[in-house]
Amino acid sequence: MRAVVYQGPHEVTVEQVEDPRIEHPDDVVVQITTTAICGSDLHMYEGRTLAEPGIVFGHENMGTVVEAGTGVRGIRVGDRVSMPFNVACGYCRNCREQKTGFCLTVNPGFAGGAYGYVAMGPYRGGQAEYLRVPFADFNCLKLPPGTEHENDYAMLADIFPTGYHGVAMTGLRPGENITVMGGGPVGLMAAYSAILMGAAEVFLVDRVPDRLRLAESIGATPIDFSAGDPVAQILDRTDGVGTDHGVDAVGYQATGAGGAEQPAAVLNSLVEVVRATGAIGVVGLYLANDPGAPDEHSGRGELLFKVGKLFEKGLRMGTGQANVKTYNEYLRNLIMAGRATPSFVVSKELPLDAAPDAYQRFDRREAGYSKVVLKPAA
Ligand SMILES: NC(=O)c1ccc[n+]([C@@H]2O[C@H](COP(=O)([O-])OP(=O)(O)OC[C@H]3O[C@@H](n4cnc5c(N)ncnc54)[C@H](O)[C@@H]3O)[C@@H](O)[C@H]2O)c1
Ligand SMILES: [Zn+2]
Ligand SMILES: [Zn+2]
Repeated sequence: MRAVVYQGPHEVTVEQVEDPRIEHPDDVVVQITTTAICGSDLHMYEGRTLAEPGIVFGHENMGTVVEAGTGVRGIRVGDRVSMPFNVACGYCRNCREQKTGFCLTVNPGFAGGAYGYVAMGPYRGGQAEYLRVPFADFNCLKLPPGTEHENDYAMLADIFPTGYHGVAMTGLRPGENITVMGGGPVGLMAAYSAILMGAAEVFLVDRVPDRLRLAESIGATPIDFSAGDPVAQILDRTDGVGTDHGVDAVGYQATGAGGAEQPAAVLNSLVEVVRATGAIGVVGLYLANDPGAPDEHSGRGELLFKVGKLFEKGLRMGTGQANVKTYNEYLRNLIMAGRATPSFVVSKELPLDAAPDAYQRFDRREAGYSKVVLKPAA
């Protein structure tokens, strides 16, 4: 089959690789109908992780089951399914407690597994024609048959549940307000989720004009951080109080207004802008090893973070990979009911062969490439 293969910094190719097959009775093989490129893939693409050449990328996958192992009970050949980006076993302590982003068995020595991602286990990605899904009964979410809402359901593998998780970690209640830092697909999904959960006002901070426009189109208040300190802009609009909560949807490659990287910029802005006793949900990625970090400390994931201020204000903070399975079924139901259409973030549909070009353009944050979905079966 054909697949998107990482070759080294700033290079992916579409290559012929071995077809996946059933390796265990609990596996299924899925023919991929839609697979999305993610900001998380860019960290690897830019050489900002310890990823080695040869990884098949792709953790945002959906498609049709074409083969099922003899132990699979709830999923059949022909089912249309979405797979959380997390690979999880379903029986370890963290899985039993719904913390499927931190499964203890699928990636020995590490809490958490994923498809097509450095350090997340041996699972090949789905930017390919086919994908092997282990523990299929646990890792496949059934979708209505057909092709309706394809791009909406494609957002269930990662960014919709991840954005939702960012807000859920804050404990936002209806009528509260929130700051979302980052207007990439994850930040837009966090803003969208906050609105679904009844937030009174959502500020979304970025500097990319089409992302700020999208934020405005869903009812969020766009804040352009290249036009001045975002904390001051939000304090201005909230009578100096700040917001009840905040979400970091940027991570360690955050930049200052001038464009230079400042790994702790977003975390520190949130500590400033969230009111005392509020909460911060961090879904933007932070790594323990960054080979391209701007300084030695951040190379080890040690940032100059305002922990004193965090404590003084009594802020709470949640972090980590999103536990997609905690949310995907319910968010699917919202899509089925016509109450959520997360595909508003999708900016382009392309065949698998267009992936190398799409990665380049997405990496340059070119307009129209903010959320690319690939259609390997087309
Ligand atoms: N926790 C999880 O489970 C999970 C899942 C998916 C993605 N992620 C991570 O979430 C982050 C966002 O993903 P994405 O696909 O939206 O990425 P993206 O790169 O498309 O978006 C990041 C956005 O942040 C903006 N930004 C940079 N510096 C900023 C600053 N100082 N203030 C405000 N905005 C700033 C950029 O302009 C960009 O639009 C990435 O780090 C990704 O790895 C985490
Ligand atoms: Zn992703
Ligand atoms: Zn587990």
